[in-house]
Amino acid sequence: MGGTRQQILAMMIEKGDGYVSGEEISRKLGLSRTAVWKHIEELRREGYQIEARQRSGYRLVFRPDRILQEEIACHLSTRSFGRVLRTLKTVDSTQKVAHQWAREGAPEGAAVIAEEQTAGRGRLGRSWHSPPGSGIWMSLILRPPIPIARAPQLTLMASVGIARALIDMTHLPVRIKWPNDLLIRDKKVCGILTELRGEQDRVHYAVLGAGINVNIDGEAWPPDLKGKVTSLSAEAGRAFRRSPLIAAMLKELEAIYEKYLEQGFSAVHKEWERLSGILGRPVKVRNASGEVSGIARGLNGDGALLLDTEEGLIPIYSAEIIEG
Ligand code: BTN
Repeated sequence: MGGTRQQILAMMIEKGDGYVSGEEISRKLGLSRTAVWKHIEELRREGYQIEARQRSGYRLVFRPDRILQEEIACHLSTRSFGRVLRTLKTVDSTQKVAHQWAREGAPEGAAVIAEEQTAGRGRLGRSWHSPPGSGIWMSLILRPPIPIARAPQLTLMASVGIARALIDMTHLPVRIKWPNDLLIRDKKVCGILTELRGEQDRVHYAVLGAGINVNIDGEAWPPDLKGKVTSLSAEAGRAFRRSPLIAAMLKELEAIYEKYLEQGFSAVHKEWERLSGILGRPVKVRNASGEVSGIARGLNGDGALLLDTEEGLIPIYSAEIIEG
């Protein structure tokens, strides 16, 4: 949506149930009354229901669930996360856009969110199914003053922040599966991908990508994903508006990130364990050096998963859970 149209929308949102006069819009934005009318017509074509009344002006009656800066801004209560924001209709991957933007100097907390990704990236070179209008496909730029070795903690921190926001907004039983998935009733509802640029002793920036399946029908999944994934709407039996969810996620992410920077990983540790769906359960993990089975016992102080195996308690720093 063009900038002028977004500004008109912002003026109507600000008025709530009230009217904004055509005269005020044309004066503030330097437009003719005919131009204002054309923009209103365009907003209607995009699904906004707008009442027009002579002498009163325009009033927003219905807002479709669109990912737009104005829609997100009116729910946002963060200090910096999401305050600098790019919203896109369609993009290959929000990660790619965020990397480019970070290289150009985007500030910490800048976010890229898209309605649709045509080449969404998952972990381990996999793709991420990101259909239009039905999920939150978001990349957040962070500039933490930490060495690269501590970077996996960012993913654990993000899982806690996003889980908190989703539980708060939906009351669904969201659980964390180490290292980067959020599940509801054992099906994946969110994936987190942290990508880094830096040197050994310093992260230049991190792009924290999160994909949340919000309003996706059980039937709509590609065959290879059916049965393994779910969405908030499928679990709750109702649709969710995405802008309040995005604002809640950004708020929780900002809060836990600030705490993490102040206090270190101990600020995340206990809550991660409380939200974890795997502790006490037998799991099998796979990484570059092979497969290990054991009972998941918790995290160590660095964020590695502690597996109780036949050889004793082993910390797993990087792997994928393949069973459990
Ligand atoms: C996973 O494999 O579980 C991680 C999935 C991460 C998907 C998100 S969607 C927004 C961002 N852009 C991408 O291309 N990937 C991440």
